[in-house]
Amino acid sequence: MEHTPNWVEEAWTKAKDKTLRNIAQIGDGFPHASVNGTYVLEQPNWWTAGFWPGMLWQLYEESGDDRFRMTAEQCEARLDAVLDGYVRLDHDLGFMWTLTSVAAHKLLDSEVSKIRALKAANYLVGRFNLKGRYIRAWNPWTEGEDNAGYAIIDCAMNTPLLYWASRESGDPRYRHIAEAHMDTVLQHFVRADGSVYHIVEFDPWTGQFVEGKGGQGYAPESAWSRGTAWALYGLTLSYHHTGNPAYLNAAKRVAHFFLSNLPEDHVPHWDFRLPQDVTKYRDSSAGAIAASGLLLLADKVGALEAHVYRQPAVKMLESLYRNYGAWDQDNEEGLILHGTSHYPEGKNIDVPLIYGDFYFVEGLARLRGTRAIFWE
Ligand code: GLY
Repeated sequence: MEHTPNWVEEAWTKAKDKTLRNIAQIGDGFPHASVNGTYVLEQPNWWTAGFWPGMLWQLYEESGDDRFRMTAEQCEARLDAVLDGYVRLDHDLGFMWTLTSVAAHKLLDSEVSKIRALKAANYLVGRFNLKGRYIRAWNPWTEGEDNAGYAIIDCAMNTPLLYWASRESGDPRYRHIAEAHMDTVLQHFVRADGSVYHIVEFDPWTGQFVEGKGGQGYAPESAWSRGTAWALYGLTLSYHHTGNPAYLNAAKRVAHFFLSNLPEDHVPHWDFRLPQDVTKYRDSSAGAIAASGLLLLADKVGALEAHVYRQPAVKMLESLYRNYGAWDQDNEEGLILHGTSHYPEGKNIDVPLIYGDFYFVEGLARLRGTRAIFWE
């Protein structure tokens, strides 16, 4: 067992205390970005709905404090309207129900939660395009919009719901679809240098590759840092669930690209490939996601190279704690400052983001040796 540095315990206590205070404000709401110190609450169908309850479950697992559990359960129950409403569901089913219902099933053996998560997995496999071997990202947002051919790198983090569903149900079809999608990620999303596309468009009728797109990154051939982090973590999880070395090798390639592009404080800019005249805002959330993924990667490689991934992960989390934490700011609900949600659309730039908070807490939980990582 590795020695846990003192700052990890300090950070854990501060994250726990601040989250307990936040329960009074946020309750069973669904926060996304903190604007002027207050988390703006989204509709429950928004893709970020799982992160707040997921963080509560992570803290409940360690503390047994029922205030975390009860609020997480209320959030999960509110999501039933989305699950039963169906039409507002996108590929983000994995983010949403892994951190709510899979978490509740893992921690409390809840049968109701298991059924909810299996329903979500069934909707997710229903988005699979057989010709293109990808999980469709979104439904049309506006009348007439045709995005049936779009797949996105974020979905690499949604496939753990399918690996879980195969294990729970004994039916391999969920896993077959997860693997088919991840093989497409290997073939079309991960570039030779370890950077990734955010969006890849296919012809939804023939399955032919059409083009890579910039999406939330600066440009089609730039390197959106959060997308890179989704790829790093998602590929590592696919290796964890399947043992396929192609996923491990790709995860390493993406990790090397990510790590070699970090600035001096170990927390990434929002895109790794920006022209000189574009502001290099940080995206602390990309750092937190990558750090948690790197800690898993370190556990998956041999003892000889574990430090290659573990040491930078620890440095990233420590920098997030010391340089980005809002611990002494009573007027700020966010835990981790300086995230960038969507630069091209000018949305939520340089603010705390709930997924930055969640993955920071998950990274600390890994360092403290938790038994419960919900994606695994
Ligand atoms: N599209 C999900 C994200 O912002 O990472």
